[in-house]
Amino acid sequence: MLMGASAWAADQPVSAADGMAVARRNACMGCHAVDRKLVGPSFQQVAEKYKGDPKASERLALKVRNGGSGVWGMIPMPSHPAMNNGDIQAVVNWVLAGAPSK
Ligand code: HEC
Repeated sequence: MLMGASAWAADQPVSAADGMAVARRNACMGCHAVDRKLVGPSFQQVAEKYKGDPKASERLALKVRNGGSGVWGMIPMPSHPAMNNGDIQAVVNWVLAGAPSK
């Protein structure tokens, strides 16, 4: 399975349940699914793309906060200025771990 994911989990512990709860609370799942493309890429595609990239966590946290487009296509990811850093970090770590359901 995803070996990178366990390294992540060891580095920055975040429970999968937390990441998923944050995603649900912030309506991320309206545009993203775990395993298929909707408006945005699936969270598993995102995990695959950034596997082994030590800067991914920081980059994606900024992307969630500020939004942007051009990585996966022309449709922009909206900004989330009201989310706190802890929530952003939790959801980004969950995505990078392959969006596990438990
Ligand atoms: C209105 C639809 C929409 C919503 C809501 C949304 N996203 Fe996205 N997301 C997108 C699109 C479209 C992209 C692709 C952006 C691009 O190509 O650069 C994306 C990209 C991403 C990426 C990959 C960014 C990259 O640069 O590779 C992550 C991670 C992500 N979204 C997480 C989230 C999270 C977490 C939330 C909830 C807080 C969320 N998204 C809410 C549409 C959405």
